[in-house]
Amino acid sequence: MPSIHLPRRRNRIRAALVLGTRPEAIKLAPVLRAMSDSPLFEPMVVSTGQHREMLDQMLSRLHMDSSRDLAVMRDRQQLSGLTARLISGLGEAVRADEPDVVIVQGDTTTAMTGALAAFYEGVPVAHVEAGLRTGVIGNPFPEELNRRLVAPMVRWHFAPTEGSAANLLAEGVDPGQIDVTGNTVIDNLLWVLERGEGRSAFTASGLRRVLVTLHRRENQGETMHGIATALADLAGRPDVEIVLPLHKSPAVRDALLPVLGDHPRIRLVEPLDYFDFAATLAACDLVLTDSGGVQEEAPTLGKPVLVLRTTTERPEAVQAGVALLVGTEPGEVAAAAHRLLDDRAAYGRMAAAVNPFGDGRAAERIVHRLALDLAGRTTGHGEGDLAVA
Ligand code: UD1
Ligand code: UDP
Repeated sequence: MPSIHLPRRRNRIRAALVLGTRPEAIKLAPVLRAMSDSPLFEPMVVSTGQHREMLDQMLSRLHMDSSRDLAVMRDRQQLSGLTARLISGLGEAVRADEPDVVIVQGDTTTAMTGALAAFYEGVPVAHVEAGLRTGVIGNPFPEELNRRLVAPMVRWHFAPTEGSAANLLAEGVDPGQIDVTGNTVIDNLLWVLERGEGRSAFTASGLRRVLVTLHRRENQGETMHGIATALADLAGRPDVEIVLPLHKSPAVRDALLPVLGDHPRIRLVEPLDYFDFAATLAACDLVLTDSGGVQEEAPTLGKPVLVLRTTTERPEAVQAGVALLVGTEPGEVAAAAHRLLDDRAAYGRMAAAVNPFGDGRAAERIVHRLALDLAGRTTGHGEGDLAVA
């Protein structure tokens, strides 16, 4: 690992937060806020623009200004082209900005190339949401590969849970480089709910409210079409209203719209901003999702989750009894949802508010650790160094 040297002319730690998709903006917003509140940091947001509308929606709603935008998104982008545009643009950005630390989040292609570009330039990398693993290299695709590629390039692994820290230890990561922080998504969820500005997207009264999100690449095509038929079956119940904010990906819309486009009890809406999504989640009775972030948020609000995937890197919610890994087979998806809506006792057992993913102070812990390691005390700098209280 390259050694860390703050240039003497600097009196603040220059931190580049690299992000490109909706969840990265949501999950790095608390880190940006904590750094902006500290006199020790000069944070800068490097946006890759891997997502366009969905990223801009979050950046603007969460008041995050980017210092760069690489605008890499293409319609129906392929992973190889996306990776090529990202690594080239990020290499140039890191060389030009000369950050003291590059912060990446999660397992997107933006995160993987952000870590690689920093590593190539000798800049230490901090990984927020480190250590998540399904153990199956192709699922989720390509996220399991991305996060495994990131790990060896990282100086600070910020693991959300003890389980994710254990995954890193099992791979031989030095325990001194791992901090269990909680997930920053919980920081942001609590922050947003406290402001109370969001509006639920449910409209009917007296119906059971089901919130659905779907987007995973490995589910696209036939699998997602099959899940849509399960949702149509569920919406056949007169006591149900389904809200489904559609991901912008055309592959998702191709699979869902032909089956669900016209149903009176299914509201297909454009992506909700984070305030409205949080309010919608708070208002719902049941969640069906293949999203990572939504699996983390729902337990905090006591909402049972049916995970529409065959694997999860977030077993904590399943272990806590608030999530069920139901897979993607339409009959099983529909049966699991009907059962929870019909069986009060089964529903009650799952509708418990628990916080396996954090207490809302993850960003504080992350920023404190970076300050300790980068602000002079442990870097061995002399006169003019920064001190951490
Ligand atoms: C990406 C991440 C995934 C993450 C998800 C969060 C990768 C490979 N995938 O998946 O890990 O869970 O974001 O949502 O990093 N599009 C738009 N406007 C947008 C966003 C997307 O038009 O605002 C369309 C474009 O046609 C784009 C396509 O969606 O080519 C796919 O976007 P991409 O970022 O490649 O993959 P996601 O499925 O969004
Ligand atoms: N989300 C949102 N609006 C929506 C759908 C989701 O704000 O219409 C938020 C959600 O609260 C979660 C994040 O987006 O924090 C999850 O993003 P996504 O499912 O796209 O990606 P993943 O978490 O699977 O990587």
